Parts: sequence; C-alpha cells; structure tokens
Amino acid sequence: MKIKNICCIGAGYVGGPTMSVIALKCPDIKVTVVDLNEARINAWNDENLENLPVYEQGLAEVVSKTRGKNLFFSTDVDIAIDTADMIFIAVNTPTKTYGEGKGMAADLKFVELCARQIARVANNDKIIVEKSTLPVRTAETIQTILDSTGNGVNFEVLSNPEFLAEGTAIDDLFKADRVLIGGNQTPSGKKAIQALVDVYSNWLSPKQILTTNVWSSELSKLTANAFLAQRISSINAMSALCEATEADVDEVAHAIGTDSRIGSKFLKASVGFGGSCFQKDILNLVYLCSFFNLPEVANYWEQVIKLNDYQKHRFAKKIINTLFNTVNGKKIAFLGWAFKKDTNDTRESAAIYVADHLIEDGANIHVYDPKVSESKIKADLVYLWELRGISELRISQKIAKIFVHKDYNEALNNSHAIAVLTEWDEFTTYDWNTIYQNMYKPAFVFDGRNILDASVLNEIGFQFKGIGKG
Ligand code: UDX
Ligand code: UDX
Repeated sequence: MKIKNICCIGAGYVGGPTMSVIALKCPDIKVTVVDLNEARINAWNDENLENLPVYEQGLAEVVSKTRGKNLFFSTDVDIAIDTADMIFIAVNTPTKTYGEGKGMAADLKFVELCARQIARVANNDKIIVEKSTLPVRTAETIQTILDSTGNGVNFEVLSNPEFLAEGTAIDDLFKADRVLIGGNQTPSGKKAIQALVDVYSNWLSPKQILTTNVWSSELSKLTANAFLAQRISSINAMSALCEATEADVDEVAHAIGTDSRIGSKFLKASVGFGGSCFQKDILNLVYLCSFFNLPEVANYWEQVIKLNDYQKHRFAKKIINTLFNTVNGKKIAFLGWAFKKDTNDTRESAAIYVADHLIEDGANIHVYDPKVSESKIKADLVYLWELRGISELRISQKIAKIFVHKDYNEALNNSHAIAVLTEWDEFTTYDWNTIYQNMYKPAFVFDGRNILDASVLNEIGFQFKGIGKG
C-alpha cells in the first residue's frame, strides 16, 4: 500500500518538526498537520518564519521549502482525517493532575478524543500511528475505540515513538539512530508496518528502521527515556559526593565515559533534567509497574525522579546557604530559563523549581533567556503554584518577585548572585570582567551547567560554584 496522504493531529514540538521533515523527504506525499489550537496553526502559517511556534535549528528552512507545496497546517481536523490514508496522533499526554493515577499516570484523554474523532469521521480504511508517548497497551485501547464506534472501516494501529531531542530535532530526524515501528503481527498489521517503513525509506536505510510488535515498541520509548534520565541522575548523585570530597564531576564523567561499555554521552552533571518527557515518562513507567504489582521495579525507577528533585533543591539551597543563609530582598540573576539550550521549550525546566525555592526565601529573580518570553516564564510559575493550591493573593505576591529582561545586562547589573540555569552558548562569550564590575561584592556565580571557565571567573574575583566541583 502506497501512502499518498498523511494527517497528523497535534502541531506541537513533535508533530510540527516530524511532519515538516516527512514532507521534505517525501515530495509525493501530501502532509496536513492539524491542531485544535487556532493560534498555533496561525503561527505555523505565519509568513514570517521567525514566528513559527516551535524554535528548532533548521526548522524554518524545511518549512519554507515545503509549506504550501505538500505541507499544510490547518484547524479543519475532520477534512484532514477524511482524506488521509495514514493518521499520526501527536497530541500531548501530560501527567494526570486529577483523579485516579494523579501525579503519575499519563493523561490519555486527548488521545482518546482523537480516536473517537477518527472513528466518527473515517469513511475508508486507515492506518493510525501513535506518535505520542503512551503507556504499554494503549494501542489496544485505541483499536477498541476505533472498532466499536467506526463505520465498518478497518483500522490498523501502529506504534512509532519519536526519539528526537529538542534543540536538535531536525538533525535527529534527518539522521535518526533508528526509527521504531511496532505493529500487529497479522497479515494486515504487517502490510501497515511496511507502508510506514516505505515512508521512512525515502531517506533512511533499512538498518535504521526497526520493526517489532506493538507492545515492545510502546515500552521501548518509555525504557529509552528512563535509561537516559537514569544516567543523568546517576552522575548528578555523584556530583553531590564530588562536592563533599573535592573530586571534579566532569573529570569523573570523562574518566568513566572512556569505558566503551559506559560511553561518554548523557553524563553531564547539571542542575537537574527537565523537558516534557523524562519526568512524565518515568512517572508513567512507575505507575505501570505499580499497576502490574511490581513494587520493587516501581521503586527502582522512582529514585531517578527523586534524585532529580533533590538536585534542583540542592542547587537552590546552595545559593541560599552561600549568600549567608538568606536571599531575602536580594537580586538573583538567572541566565537561562529553557530546559536546555537551543529551544524555547520550558516544560519541567529546572529553572522553574529553583526560582520557586528562592522566591519562597524572598529573593527577587531577574531572568534573561534568549528565546523564552516573559509571559511564558510567568505562566510556568503560576501553573506550578496553582497546581499546589496556592491562593490567588499569594500567587500575585510571589509573581511580583520575578522580572524578565530582554537585555542580559539589565538582569545581571546590581545583582548579588548569578545562576546559570541553561547552557546557552552565548553565556560563555559575555564580558565577565564588566559583569563583575557591575555586581554587588562578593559577587557569586552558581553555574548549574558547568559551562563557564572557573579559573577565569575566579581570577576576575568572582566567588564561583559549579556543580560537582569540590
Ligand atoms: C509530544 C507527544 O505527543 C508526547 O506524548 C511526547 O511525550 C512528547 O511529544 P509535544 O508535541 O511536545 O508532545 O506536545 P505539544 O507541543 O503540547 O503539542 C501537542 C499539540 O496537540 C498541541 O498543539 C495541542 O493543541 C494539540 N492537541 C491536543 C490537539 O490538536 N487536539 C487535542 O485533542 C489535544
Ligand atoms: C528526550 C530524549 O533525549 C529524546 O530521545 C526523547 O524523544 C524525548 O526526550 P529532550 O527532553 O528533548 O529529549 O532533551 P534531552 O537532550 O534528552 O535533555 C533532557 C534534559 O536532560 C535537559 O534538561 C538536559 O539539559 C538534561 N541533560 C541531558 C543533562 O542534564 N545532562 C546530560 O548529560 C544530558
């Protein structure tokens, strides 16, 4: 079966870039990305490519080459579903904030809504592709909904988890380590798998395309994210020990990373991992393990999250303790708010939690991030506080302690301390001599990403604290 029309529901960080690359690499396929959020679709259609809702290196170029040719962004979900042979579901699956499984389980309400809408609208056979990260056996749920409410149409459900990392999404899509496609091991399931293999074969080699049964594919995504996050929590755990023993965590990471069995990637100690996936997926994994009555396995993975929370708190506490046990009324400058460099995404960013901790101690936080807007930064904090049930009055008092600047000098001048929360390259190019002149003394720098040169900063006169530096 040759795919001619693809529809993707969800024009977010995953759906937008993934479909743009499919459109570029498969000029014969018409790709329509739909979303309920009209503002987001308008932004994807904006003439000025700087206004795309997702910032990714190389994305604007891909969109400029494909949009209006074989790539379309629309809010008309029904039409896109009706005309597609293959429908990707790339809606968000956040951690549940209510009811059964609150704080742990993935909220599948959007996925379920998509399945119901597809069942209602579809008039001919379709392949449904799960792109969103989902608990194991979700394909079964989707299949059941499709089969019980459909119009006698045949649906084949595939799992095709996305492994791209934000900030390098386009490159990751062009040169994927692997694409994983899970499907039913029946004749029609195998045909559907082959149809998706053919799409990716437009630019990837057979070696890069793995096929499995549906459940292995769904579980592999959770497992991959759990393993990656576990490495960060492991090195962050060692960073605390390094600080107590005068070892240097970067030296330790380098030394162990040269062992080919361990490998050098994902061993960068930090203020803690963030992003839309790691925490959500591990919590989801923990919930699944508990559900299947595997408490030892659940506890094992939960430690990865607990250690990450500890690391964020430890960083905030270190700032407070070093600043003579209080930051009340002090100006603390934040360099960076995004959860990593080269993205405007802030979901679960460590910066949110560090800011919360410091504001609770009375600090005034002055943020500069090259890509994140003031409204997003404030919305992140308000969301956290509302989730915790903090009163409206208290939230308005707390939010008055956050200041967002477009010029980094405004954030840094007359500050008592600087905290680096995101590893943006530009921070290493600043004139740190001048920054020092314009700060209160002693001038503290807390490098939550270990990107600044400690010896240079110490030489200038800063009191410099890195992560895991004894
Ligand atoms: C994706 C995945 O779907 C998630 O499971 C994975 O773990 C991370 O990547 P992402 O693309 O980052 O999520 O989410 P987001 O940027 O929030 O985009 C989802 C889009 O779906 C939003 O634009 C939202 O408006 C849209 N949506 C949501 C719909 O169009 N319909 C819905 O019913 C729900
Ligand atoms: C992750 C997975 O890498 C990707 O395969 C999956 O599809 C989605 O989740 P993403 O969250 O976009 O991607 O970024 P990633 O590069 O994995 O970074 C996640 C967090 O870990 C960031 O906050 C980053 O700063 C942090 N990190 C990463 C470290 O603290 N140390 C490291 O060594 C690597």
